[in-house]
Amino acid sequence: MANNILKGKKGIIFGALNEQSIAWKVAERAHEEGATFVLTNAPIAMRMGEIKKLAEKTGSEIIPADATNLEDLENLISKSMEILGGKVDFILHSIGMSVNVRKGLHYTEQNYDYTIKGFDVSALSFHKVLQTAMKLDAINEWGSVLALSYIAAQRTFPDYNDMADNKAYLESIARSFGYHYGVAKKVRVNTISQSPTMTTAGSGVKGFNEFLNYAEEMSPLGNAPAEACANYCIAMFSDLTKYVTMQNLFHDGGFSSTGVTQSVIEKFKG
Ligand SMILES: NC(=O)c1ccc[n+]([C@@H]2O[C@H](COP(=O)([O-])OP(=O)(O)OC[C@H]3O[C@@H](n4cnc5c(N)ncnc54)[C@H](O)[C@@H]3O)[C@@H](O)[C@H]2O)c1
Repeated sequence: MANNILKGKKGIIFGALNEQSIAWKVAERAHEEGATFVLTNAPIAMRMGEIKKLAEKTGSEIIPADATNLEDLENLISKSMEILGGKVDFILHSIGMSVNVRKGLHYTEQNYDYTIKGFDVSALSFHKVLQTAMKLDAINEWGSVLALSYIAAQRTFPDYNDMADNKAYLESIARSFGYHYGVAKKVRVNTISQSPTMTTAGSGVKGFNEFLNYAEEMSPLGNAPAEACANYCIAMFSDLTKYVTMQNLFHDGGFSSTGVTQSVIEKFKG
């Protein structure tokens, strides 16, 4: 299903860890649609080596960068422009991690060093990417920057823990930076709020399987798969969505607008 809608476009894709990663699917689809891009991930994630397969498949170079580290980001963005032969047209921020979740700490019993680390990785890194790109004037006019979010930013899902707060901040950055980057350079900034998806980051959340099944039953179209999320990202990187900016876009099979479904009601019949 390739239509070359990203023909000639250049980009940077953060966060492809393995074949399940949403960023992995976006890279595959961006390649099919004619884009060229640099792949990046935290140096520690590189050790797993999976990303090399993706780089070969998509003809991409890999530049390691810790998205919380400004020096790494400057190096990544300036080298990407050298490799790609100019400014980029799109950036995908597909990064998330909570140390409190990893260590099994309850939301009401956080270790604040962990909280700050998770916030830096999951939310502030988006601002750092945008600020560095702006400083280096690295994005073409009408360029498109996306981060991935989750509906726990608006509504409470208890086991999502401090990631809920991180996602709320992430979505706020899309609005605030989207304003400034829009005025300065006509660059657009959005978040896509994706259905629960079976990935390394997703399955780290307690009770994830049950939760995935619940969301499936609460979504008129069912949960949106990672491949469909990738397609939405491609549409957002293309010129077909030029005037969409500062939005949090739900990609969730209708979950966010559904109060209850018949199949869920059935489970409560007396
Ligand atoms: N899986 C879900 O259910 C779901 C739902 C909605 C939104 N999301 C979001 O989608 C995004 C991608 O997650 P995924 O589900 O594909 O899982 P994933 O585990 O494949 O991707 C998370 C990525 O973040 C990277 N990362 C962590 N720390 C980093 C750092 N310091 N610098 C650079 N990269 C770093 C990891 O190496 C990994 O590649 C995340 O923002 C996640 O919160 C996921």
